[in-house]
Amino acid sequence: MTLRFHQLHPQFAAEASAVDLRAVRDDETLEQIRVGMDKHAVLVFRDQAFTSDEQLAFAIRLDGEIHRKTGISVLQKSRFGDEALTDVSNVGSSGEVLAPDSRRRLYGLANRLWHTDASFQDPRGRYSMLAALVVPPVAADTEFADMRTAYDTLAEETKASFEGLHVHHSIAYSRMTLGFEFSDEESDRLKGAIQPLVLNTPRTGRRSLYLASHASRILDRPVPDGRLLLRDLMEHATRPEFVYRHSWRIGDFVIWDNRATMHRARPFDDTRHRREMRRVTTLDVGHPHPSRIARAV
Ligand code: OGA
Ligand code: MN
Repeated sequence: MTLRFHQLHPQFAAEASAVDLRAVRDDETLEQIRVGMDKHAVLVFRDQAFTSDEQLAFAIRLDGEIHRKTGISVLQKSRFGDEALTDVSNVGSSGEVLAPDSRRRLYGLANRLWHTDASFQDPRGRYSMLAALVVPPVAADTEFADMRTAYDTLAEETKASFEGLHVHHSIAYSRMTLGFEFSDEESDRLKGAIQPLVLNTPRTGRRSLYLASHASRILDRPVPDGRLLLRDLMEHATRPEFVYRHSWRIGDFVIWDNRATMHRARPFDDTRHRREMRRVTTLDVGHPHPSRIARAV
């Protein structure tokens, strides 16, 4: 089938034409989605009705390997029974809205900081796919920032000075900036990963600034210089003109490329309203999609 993509922002993000992703199994349609991701970096699909298993199976069909070493799994097991299914909800195991001082809630509040998923792991995250199951009656949006345009709009000498710079990303670091406390054992399991400051994506040939609140320091600079540079770059990359804001409807399924975007949750009265979201993230590994194998021979 042929998908159409309707642009939601001048630089990135698009809404796909009607499709039931549970039924998308042929590589031709999957490849149209990958090409749409190459172009738009955020794709919105409406009216999806995935079960957990179907969401996981779709992620594997689209992009291969699944991220399971999530930060939250160090604190608590997923209520979905599989660490591949990240619970991005504000409800506990018996379906109750999390209390203000619940540790899982406090940990999850860091989603309100600009970040990329799984940059604190090696291999890093590639696509995240978030399904909206229960949406509150008040705005509880997610914002996305276009990190390719953020890179493209830097001065040439700035771009040149970033070549070869490496950044330490740690999910414990982003939580600690909010005052969240980890036990020694938890910290030990959340050591983080080293990532380039500028990512080069072979499929698109485009470069992006690879930033997140997880970014704790630039290895090749004194710590305060590095932190100041990271803050300046965050400010640059999240200027309003680089941001798409998504207002969720039940059944929305949003795929984003963590190499080309950052995102953050916007605040709402989360101790009052239920918001249930389930995410699967794939790994940025050189997994050859069948279509690419076909093209190579
Ligand atoms: C995520 C995330 C933001 C939100 O699922 O990775 O950061 O608005 N979500 O729930
Ligand atoms: Mn996230």
